[in-house]
Amino acid sequence: ALVAGQRAQSSVLWSHVEAVVRELEESCATPIKKLRQVADAMAVEMHAGLASEGGTKLKMLISYVDNLPTGDETGLFYALDLGGTNFRVLRVQLGGKEGRVVKQEFEEVSIPPQLMTGGSDELFDFIASALARFVASEGEDYHLPVGRQRELGFTFSFPVRQISIGSGTLVKWTKGFNIDATVGEDVVAELARAMERQGLNMRVSALVNDTIGTLAGGRYHDEDVVAAVILGTGTNAAYVERAEAIPKWRGLLPKSGDMVINMEWGNFSSAHLPVTEYDRALDDESLNPGEQIYEKLISGMYLGEIVRRILLRLAKEAALFGETVPEKLLVPFVLRTPVMSAMHHDRSSDLDVVGTKLKDELGISSTSLRVRKVVVQICEVVARRSGCLAAAGIVGIMKKVGRDDAGEEGSRVPRTVIAMDGGLYEHYAMVSATVQCTVKEMLGEEATDSVVIKMANDGSGVGAALLAASHSQYLELEQS
Ligand code: GLC
Repeated sequence: ALVAGQRAQSSVLWSHVEAVVRELEESCATPIKKLRQVADAMAVEMHAGLASEGGTKLKMLISYVDNLPTGDETGLFYALDLGGTNFRVLRVQLGGKEGRVVKQEFEEVSIPPQLMTGGSDELFDFIASALARFVASEGEDYHLPVGRQRELGFTFSFPVRQISIGSGTLVKWTKGFNIDATVGEDVVAELARAMERQGLNMRVSALVNDTIGTLAGGRYHDEDVVAAVILGTGTNAAYVERAEAIPKWRGLLPKSGDMVINMEWGNFSSAHLPVTEYDRALDDESLNPGEQIYEKLISGMYLGEIVRRILLRLAKEAALFGETVPEKLLVPFVLRTPVMSAMHHDRSSDLDVVGTKLKDELGISSTSLRVRKVVVQICEVVARRSGCLAAAGIVGIMKKVGRDDAGEEGSRVPRTVIAMDGGLYEHYAMVSATVQCTVKEMLGEEATDSVVIKMANDGSGVGAALLAASHSQYLELEQS
């Protein structure tokens, strides 16, 4: 085996490998100048999306959240979080300013992949039945006043056009979901019907995106939270905008003067983005070609797949893994981002982890150290670009809200907190470190101390429950 391995390795066309990697590095490069152009373009698209409904890259969706949690929220509330490969159900007893979160419990259920591209009723029935089981397990230490209906905050992490906090129609699916029958439908009505079929008596009091939930959950713990970013399976951001700065807003100006906006920044695109041939091919062959371009460069669903495509080219053109192309490498999405992350973070001198992962996940055995180093280098290029581009997006928001520099001489940027959530940021250290230091580098010294990125672990679930509480049907009753 050793002899065969050696023979295979010696036939690697190293000069071609080096040329391909060099070309990759060049086309993924994100010098600060380029990142500033991306941030500026993001701010420009934000203005465009706030000005008119439709036809813009950024949908800048109005969330109908004009007040963020204050801490006064009380009572028993549920939340349901649908948006990635898992969905979560959560129950929380809120105790007001003194009690805060008195008690909470959650359950995570993975969604069978076939339900992500099947029928609408099947998906919602599956969710409602898991929710019904969870509600049935409610213990006696949760308190619901007699005669009241249970209320739910529904975190639905896809673009939804709302006309109130309590309902909204699905604009399109993203992130590997693709169920035609749901597009254009009111997802709250879909869920309500499924709950009825389960015999579950519950009312959706707030329909929110995960970014909105994260913003609400973040604000509950820290008053200086003004924006939320998700770096997970997908990527997106929300922030607090002045209602008068939203030309397309036709309603009354809210008392607070504010309106939270779900940017749907995953759909951002710009000529300034460093897009490679691998990205273009990935997009062409995706469920949603031409859409979510920024998301496809950044988020967890795609990073591993980009790396797979590069490795496949090297296997085919330069025999990186020997004379034959490893069969598994031909399968789209076999290389998941957590595996890429494990390889990228391998600190052993002979890159053992890389070797093991290549073997276990891709069926590639007996790689040389030199080959394994190339793999790590490719992970580095792709992960770095992701972190830098996400940072540029954050700086774009800071620009839009005027928190990107010290402004007038002598005045300081007020403390500005960005609540962050998502598995990519949480588990991919190289990505989160890159986001952090690139934001600092772009904002410069003045703003660096004031702008803080804070991990808000499952703020989104509690956030949705908090918004359900502040939009409860019983609220007026309580206040009178
Ligand atoms: C996708 C969805 C968006 C969500 C994001 C993060 O971009 O379209 O609504 O917030 O993923 O989950």
